Amino acid sequence: MKRMRTHLSSRKVIAVLTAALLATGVAACGNSDTGDSGGKDDGKITLGFSQVGAESGWRTANTTSIKEAAAEAGIDLKFDDAQQKQENQIKAIRNFIQQKVDVIAFSPVVESGWDTVLKEAKDAKIPVILTDRAVDSADKSLYKTFLGSDFVKEGRLAGEWLVEKEKAATGPVNIVELQGTTGSAPANDRKKGFADAISANPNLKIIASQSGDFTRAGGKQVMEQFLKANPKIDVLFAHNDDMGLGALEAITAAGKVPGKDITIITVDAVKDGMQALADGKFNFIAECSPLLGPQLMDLVKKVHNGEEVPVRIETQETTFTQEQAKEALPNRKY
Ligand code: AHR
Repeated sequence: MKRMRTHLSSRKVIAVLTAALLATGVAACGNSDTGDSGGKDDGKITLGFSQVGAESGWRTANTTSIKEAAAEAGIDLKFDDAQQKQENQIKAIRNFIQQKVDVIAFSPVVESGWDTVLKEAKDAKIPVILTDRAVDSADKSLYKTFLGSDFVKEGRLAGEWLVEKEKAATGPVNIVELQGTTGSAPANDRKKGFADAISANPNLKIIASQSGDFTRAGGKQVMEQFLKANPKIDVLFAHNDDMGLGALEAITAAGKVPGKDITIITVDAVKDGMQALADGKFNFIAECSPLLGPQLMDLVKKVHNGEEVPVRIETQETTFTQEQAKEALPNRKY
């Protein structure tokens, strides 16, 4: 009797163990099918997103777009603000790996120095998506895809507009340039695209070029220095609206009329920039769209499901003159 009880209870134990093993097996199959390496068990995809910071109107609109789209798509978003520091982004990515999120996405502050942390994510089998800004890693297997603008094209469109505007110029046209964050993809690429385009007219000369870190305060401060050091400035090319808006204050304080005494070209087309353009204070904007959220969430789902995605997805953008800004402003979302 005693022996039979022992026998029965070991059968029960075996049944419980088998059920447990089966359950684990099913979960393990689910994980390997999807490439999922962990995350919460509530059926939702967990996305770790490391944002650059909150340096500009563009960035604020981008953050809103990502948060809204994640909520809409039913994706559990872990959001981190790196305050424009690469070391903060690396720390955030390592945290996401430790938390075993399903997918990591980030907008890299600068282009270089990502290989080690991206390799750590790859080893942990967590797919990475780049949004907005690129990295210069030679190993393209470190990330699944890059969703964002063609920054070289934006700089080129800005330069081509100036070449056309100044085609009748007979003497030097002095240009000052407010660069974005040093080492960032948009700063490197917009500088290149603009320089290439204006090389078509030898009268167009960049006489000063410095970083304003994509902020209004930076734009104002550097423009003040430009104005002090250079008695004749004909054109300002600012790598984003916010630096251009900061520069407006410096230009007005120096007794000059923005948009008339100094031609102002910027990139982004956020509402405040578009308002300055419609008001005649800016002269031309090359658009850079921050509304990447819905496309990003779509990609997150695809890479989580192990689907193939294009290695590069380029955002669709346009340009604005003063007249076009007046028309577009009433319906501008950001
Ligand atoms: O990476 C996109 C750039 O970053 C935007 O043009 C600028 O406004 C932002 O800070």
